[in-house]
Amino acid sequence: MIVQPTPENIERAARSLREGALVAFPTETVYGLGADARNPDAVRRIFAAKRRPAAHPVIVHLAEASAIGRWASSAPAEARALAAAFWPGPLTLILPRAPGVSDAVTGGAESVGLRVPAHPIARALLERFVALGGDGIAAPSANLFGRVSATTAQHVCDDFGDELALIIDAGACPHGIESTIVAFTEGEPLLLRLGAIPVERIAAVLGRVPASGGPNAPRASGTLESHYAPRTPAKLLDAGELRNAVGSLHGRGTHVAVLAHSLAQPASFEGVWFDAPAHDAAYAQELYANLRALDALAADEIWIEAPPDGPEWSAVRDRLRRATHRG
Ligand code: TXA
Ligand code: MG
Repeated sequence: MIVQPTPENIERAARSLREGALVAFPTETVYGLGADARNPDAVRRIFAAKRRPAAHPVIVHLAEASAIGRWASSAPAEARALAAAFWPGPLTLILPRAPGVSDAVTGGAESVGLRVPAHPIARALLERFVALGGDGIAAPSANLFGRVSATTAQHVCDDFGDELALIIDAGACPHGIESTIVAFTEGEPLLLRLGAIPVERIAAVLGRVPASGGPNAPRASGTLESHYAPRTPAKLLDAGELRNAVGSLHGRGTHVAVLAHSLAQPASFEGVWFDAPAHDAAYAQELYANLRALDALAADEIWIEAPPDGPEWSAVRDRLRRATHRG
């Protein structure tokens, strides 16, 4: 059930979580599908609802950075510096897990993912949850496994229907793309997922660019080749390719839906054409809503104009590459 973020509903949501139910809530990145992280049965319900394989760990959302010590057995100075710089905010730290953190949360790994979200409703929910004796809220993105993330309450409802106790509606998420993930499991910082915080800002705090996840990097489902994917076959084309492909469509009867951000719709095009924002942050904020809307058209194919090369587009490029990966 979708509810407004009134104090009564936030209280209800916090109680539901403490009772072991699933609650979807807004964060500054995407909606999260939450469960009490200290209740392994509740956390397992997340996996069942998402149809997510059990070996994929979930992020624990904390009310305060000071809770790190209850979830991680250690946190190097560099991890603490990142937490000080970006929490509350869209940064997830992967740290060695503290004793007692359940395998349901870590996917059996020796590490745990932690983040203090900045969204006022996520914070209000965490505050009430802690007041009721809770500690952390385990929450992956509130979408079916491998599919497009949810940035509105309606997206969550489209994927899960009545399976969830509550869906707290706070409108569209401000970033629209997931948190940046940095792991400190080998001591050295390792960038596991590009996200809402640009790598350059992480590098500015660390004094160097973190290495990117290699073959020995901890598992992250967001690092699978195919992820964030619409059901409709989707492909990336640069503006020139897109113009030519659209031109050669005429009379073929193929139903194509296009997501462009610089190319204008040619007069002859008969499919559905979405003009995405040309600015990186606005593009990212609307990306998942656009992918979901394009997917809902049941077109034969989705054609996406490849985003620009600049570093400010790197997280968007990453998501689109995975959303269009086949195989
Ligand atoms: O912005 C976000 O991070 C959103 C909001 C709801 O907080 N959450 C999110 O969760 O994107 P999820 O589960 O969709 O993606 C989290 C990624 C997954 O790829 C997961 O495998 C990885 O983080 N992860 C979590 N804990 C981990 C750990 N201990 N080791 C390695 N990867 C981990
Ligand atoms: Mg996800």
